[in-house]
Amino acid sequence: MRYLAFIALLAIFGCSDANRNSSLPTSTTTDEDLMTTPVKDIHSYAEPSQAIMQHLVWQAEINFDSSRITAKASIRISRDPKAEFVVLDTKNLLIDSVGTGPAGDETTADFSLGNPDDILGSALRISLSPDTEWIHVYYRTTEGAEALQWLNPQQTAGKQLPFLFTQSQAILARTWIPLQDSPGIRFTYEATVKVPKQLLALMSAENPQEKNEQGIYQFKMEQPIPAYLMALAVGDIQFRSLGPRSGVYAEEGLIEKAAYEFGELEKMISIAEELYGPYGWERYDLVVLPPSFPFGGMENPRLTFATPTILAGDRSLTSLVAHELAHSWSGNLVTNATWEDFWLNEGFTVYFENRIMEALNGKDYSEMLALLSLQDLRTEVDEMMQNKKAGDTHLKLDLKNRNPDDGMTAIAYDKGYYFLRWLEERSGRAVWDQFLVNYFKENAFRSMSTEQFLHYLIKNLIEKQHINIYLDELEEWIYQGGLPDNLPVPVSTKFDLVDEALQSWANTGNLPKADQWSTHEWLHFIRKLPDDLDSASVSTLDATYDFTHSGNSEIQAAWFEKAIAYEYQPAYPAMADFLKHVGRRKFLSPLYKALSQTASGKEFALEVYEEARPNYHYVSTTSIDEILGISNN
Ligand code: BES
Ligand code: ZN
Repeated sequence: MRYLAFIALLAIFGCSDANRNSSLPTSTTTDEDLMTTPVKDIHSYAEPSQAIMQHLVWQAEINFDSSRITAKASIRISRDPKAEFVVLDTKNLLIDSVGTGPAGDETTADFSLGNPDDILGSALRISLSPDTEWIHVYYRTTEGAEALQWLNPQQTAGKQLPFLFTQSQAILARTWIPLQDSPGIRFTYEATVKVPKQLLALMSAENPQEKNEQGIYQFKMEQPIPAYLMALAVGDIQFRSLGPRSGVYAEEGLIEKAAYEFGELEKMISIAEELYGPYGWERYDLVVLPPSFPFGGMENPRLTFATPTILAGDRSLTSLVAHELAHSWSGNLVTNATWEDFWLNEGFTVYFENRIMEALNGKDYSEMLALLSLQDLRTEVDEMMQNKKAGDTHLKLDLKNRNPDDGMTAIAYDKGYYFLRWLEERSGRAVWDQFLVNYFKENAFRSMSTEQFLHYLIKNLIEKQHINIYLDELEEWIYQGGLPDNLPVPVSTKFDLVDEALQSWANTGNLPKADQWSTHEWLHFIRKLPDDLDSASVSTLDATYDFTHSGNSEIQAAWFEKAIAYEYQPAYPAMADFLKHVGRRKFLSPLYKALSQTASGKEFALEVYEEARPNYHYVSTTSIDEILGISNN
């Protein structure tokens, strides 16, 4: 125990081995140093010791004919007076010119673009004079703007007008704005965006609620945010208010459905505030994007981006909204210092999402969510262990020379969740909740590394409240592979009943009546279907419940995965249709993966993908290309 505790302490102070955080100070470090020393981000070229961006003025014109943004990014920096340059991240941008000095009195500045790296892009190095405070970059985006997805009218609900949206997390902001693209660097921004007159523009900022004659929109974000939260959506979008500080944007054909689905939003915000303190961003709105949006949701501040696949018609998938809302604290207020600390964003958010859903719908409900998360976690850990990727099961990731996207696994989300749930169980809910309130308050608008978090936890929870938690236990959770033996395991009577129903079907041949089952019980039922089901039973099952044509995207996706295993052909046309319309990577990857296991499945997958690929965003096509072994060079 003592030896392990010692290792853990060293790990916390960053000098146990070179792979951990080598930029962390050594044992002479004071508390203050550890909490305030900037952490090195391997995914950014920025050199914060020279100059850090503080404010961005973005003036842009959005051109759908050429699928291009032409813009000027003016950046105010805070700098070392002796600094001779400032470094920005860029990727695939065309830089026309660079100026320095106050707006209106700019002088041309020297700049250079470094060699492009496949993952990181190119460093833009701009020379500074001793008194330079402002820099101005005139540039255009290119086809290589990986954050952007330009949709033609056919890819929208209305089918009349085009649509554009961005997805900047993790390191794609640099493909549409030159900036310091590191989660440890925060800035405020304002923007002026010109779009075609029939369209409305929205950003992660104070937003318009209706179109104007000029097609020119102004934006302001007064709270400092990291670059990955820069976001823009342009389309034929309408607004519908949902409460005093919340609302939803969507295309006309979806707005009614969306307003119903998110009807409990205002209540969720109040619950979240009761748990962890005041909402720090004034308004909370959602925008429902076209189905090619590659994620379920993205927590862009003041304006969550959401997939239309959560519009199930019965509010059964709105835990996703709780999740994105929760990021307004975990992630947007207290931000992972680097992508190797990604679990601090997502693990906290899954934990907080679960607490919001517990308060909203009761423990019966939230324990179902927790169990589904545990199933995801076990599957992913087993797979990683089998593929000899034990390192990827550590909460603290090692992403050297890798794309931060590799860290988007069940580890950050679900192992992160279970670690925090374990801390709650050891501390008692009241003490733990108070700790979290203070944590968000004291660290608001700051970034946090894993080591800083551990330090804060030990000092403010374990020591102060005399909690019976050992350092080697923390060390196991954060720096070791697999899952600790003391992993909390939720209990769900509802899922137990589903298990019984499955058993009784096997014994008697009678399928459960199940008319009261929620989406989550159905998901559990489908996931637990035996692998060796005979084809007659599969047909009966689908004839009884019609999973193939379920209006619920989660149920459909789970069922299609089984249908592939059973080679149940009647589901294939609906599955092809699903794959061609939905661009959400979480659904696509498992289906393409399962299909590529057999020769006929692979053939089907390639055929579908050829048609579907133009509907997917870059983050989805990169993943699916890899699954199907398609080289994109
Ligand atoms: N911030 C993430 C999405 C993300 C992570 C984008 C990393 C790019 C890189 C978002 O909050 C998220 O987790 N979305 C999930 C939903 C959720 C309920 C787990 C999704 O899209 O499936
Ligand atoms: Zn998230």
